[in-house]
Amino acid sequence: MLSAEKNERLTRVGRGTPMGELLRRYWWPVATHDMATRVPVKRRLLGEDLVLYRDGSGTVGLLAEQCPHRRAALWLGCTEEVGLRCGYHGWRFDADGRCLEQPGEPADSTFKDRVRATAYPKLNLSLRVLGRRPDGYHDLESLVISLGQPHDVLEAYAVPAPGGVQLEVGGVEVGEDVPADHRNLAFIAAEKLMVRAGRSGHGVRLVLRKHIPAGGGLGGGSADAAAALLAVRQLLDIDVDDAGVLELAAEVGSDVPFCVRGGAAWMRGRGEIIEPVAVPTGLAFLVAIPPFRLSTPDVYKAWDKLGGPRSERVVPAPRRLAPVLEELVNDREPAAEALEPRLVEFRNALEAATGEPALLAGSGSAYVVPVSDARKLPALVDAVSRRLRVPVVGTTSVSRGVRLAS
Ligand code: C5P
Repeated sequence: MLSAEKNERLTRVGRGTPMGELLRRYWWPVATHDMATRVPVKRRLLGEDLVLYRDGSGTVGLLAEQCPHRRAALWLGCTEEVGLRCGYHGWRFDADGRCLEQPGEPADSTFKDRVRATAYPKLNLSLRVLGRRPDGYHDLESLVISLGQPHDVLEAYAVPAPGGVQLEVGGVEVGEDVPADHRNLAFIAAEKLMVRAGRSGHGVRLVLRKHIPAGGGLGGGSADAAAALLAVRQLLDIDVDDAGVLELAAEVGSDVPFCVRGGAAWMRGRGEIIEPVAVPTGLAFLVAIPPFRLSTPDVYKAWDKLGGPRSERVVPAPRRLAPVLEELVNDREPAAEALEPRLVEFRNALEAATGEPALLAGSGSAYVVPVSDARKLPALVDAVSRRLRVPVVGTTSVSRGVRLAS
């Protein structure tokens, strides 16, 4: 009898499997001639979903079923004189899979000249402020992790002209707190990198879609800056190594080096010293965002004014975190709650709604509640958002701060 392992090896025929690679060296019938018509049809072969069509010029095409743009099904598209047009955003492909047209894109954009980056927020699980420094910053010791939701998306396009950085900001979290010009951290980061590399004559258009709330303590602006550094480096093939990128990141903002590294790390100094640590991914949290925002410098000032309080209020850490951390704590919490008394009211309401203790995220104003089982998140998110009537997100820890895709 075949072992389970051999059975698996012999019967898996998808791309990248040993049998799949062997079988792809041979011709395979996919359809009869008369099946390829102006009306595209679905076919499935060797574990791959495909779409078969004949265009107006009589050319037969067989493409992957999903449009690479937004994964819409191409068999719902229309054949044209040359090629097949996706029914969603109208991208048109020829029989070799080349994209011939992108009607919604600016005339100067091409698919290959784009890098797409997902920028993940950060969460300080433990944040001790050790004291004020002569330069006005504060020394920290903080265990920080990356969270999967809510995340921003940054697209970087190489444009022929003008040189320098252009920025467009959209998405649900736009507003006065998110500058759409040279003050935005993504803009600053991209420009610094291009200047450092002597490439400031090149044109880069950044399109940022915001979902991480500004002033929530989740490091949204820093995440965008990290995404801009990595996306522009890849887009322009810039010769600055990871250490160089981290150095630039620290110049942009104290949380940016962590966002570049992502995953989980102890953060020290003013934020620029990053020591990666093994923390499991998939730790679940509920994030609730009150209808008011806090400014980080104001929270630090309040911390100074209160004489540098060490927070005594701790939240039990998720069990899977036990080897690294037993309690979640945030020294900025007493300062933020003194500065903005509505926070305490909000925390009380959140704790009553979840039945669990909540911790301020960074400088606030968002609070997080660790949830023992990720499967409970959707129901809990639903219940809490109904009760508190504020944005509530279920999220889990992820292994990266930025994910790049072209
Ligand atoms: O570095 P970043 O520009 O993100 O910091 C914003 C503000 O937060 C600083 O101007 C400073 O007031 C405060 N801060 C601090 N100590 C840190 C990080 C930030 O006092 N370690």
